[in-house]
Amino acid sequence: MTIPPVPYDIAPRPAAGTSPEEQQFNDLIAADSRIEPRDWMPEAYRKTLVRQISQHAHSEIIGMQPEGNWITRAPSLKRKAILLAKVQDEAGHGLYLYSAAQTLGITRDEMTDALIAGKARYSSIFNYPSPTWADMGSIGWLVDGAAICNQVPLCRASYGPYGRAMVRICKEESFHQRQGFEILLELMNGTDEQRAMAQESVNRWYWPALQMFGPPDDDSPNSAQSMKWNIKRFSNDELRQRFVGMLVPQAEVLGVTLPDPDLRWNEEKGVYDMGEIDWTEFHEVLQGRGPANARRLQRRRDAHEAGRWVREAAAAYARKQAAKLTETAVA
Ligand SMILES: [Fe+2]
Ligand SMILES: [Fe+2]
Repeated sequence: MTIPPVPYDIAPRPAAGTSPEEQQFNDLIAADSRIEPRDWMPEAYRKTLVRQISQHAHSEIIGMQPEGNWITRAPSLKRKAILLAKVQDEAGHGLYLYSAAQTLGITRDEMTDALIAGKARYSSIFNYPSPTWADMGSIGWLVDGAAICNQVPLCRASYGPYGRAMVRICKEESFHQRQGFEILLELMNGTDEQRAMAQESVNRWYWPALQMFGPPDDDSPNSAQSMKWNIKRFSNDELRQRFVGMLVPQAEVLGVTLPDPDLRWNEEKGVYDMGEIDWTEFHEVLQGRGPANARRLQRRRDAHEAGRWVREAAAAYARKQAAKLTETAVA
């Protein structure tokens, strides 16, 4: 009996009609390499990234508001300095991400206009108010904590400028998460009122933080394509599970209760079972009907207007500098 020879070329052959650039793109993705701005990319890949990166940038910028609210009222000079540094970091994250999105052919003005016109999305979590000092702890611990779980895998995103921006951002996010944890720890080691304030705040932020990972996998239509393109590495539910697994031991150290009576270890599956997430609330907030959506957008619009003279002055200065350079070159 003759054994048929093993085919020499086992690499998948390009499908008929695939252009050389498209084949190169497919090869780079298959090799888990990076796509750079100069490379050809499918229009749908570009659009997905513009949407994801700009939403992410807007989230960083709008996300400054719930904490900016407490900078002047933080309980000590040290707390003010830490909070100020944290909020400045978020502004920096917004800038890296807007720059990454700009490499895909969208302008900063287009993104800003969409945000202030109320047409762009940003993370639903920032549409919740921050009425107590303990909220600075919960935001750092839960919101930045969820951001880390989401963003660490994005450091390996196939689009180069996005992945590289995420590396810098993640380093700062882990400082944010620890400072939030430490605020809560100090409150939990304080008076009865301080402990109650910390617990009340965790109760309010826990569920919206779980919603940050997005809808459940069976209701997340774009996820599969993003995973094929190596933009997304884990599904929404996987990341949510990972986050809860990280929170449970930390909550024990803090002495706070996570407000989910159905939360328990599932020996068989090796993950925590959790209660039902209120997806109606999530969609309501995303549609603009959350507790602070209108206030957040109005504040952003006001800041944009108030900063107009700074932008105009900077542009005038840049024009003068450019003119001077031309004069020197001519002389
Ligand atoms: Fe951030
Ligand atoms: Fe952060």
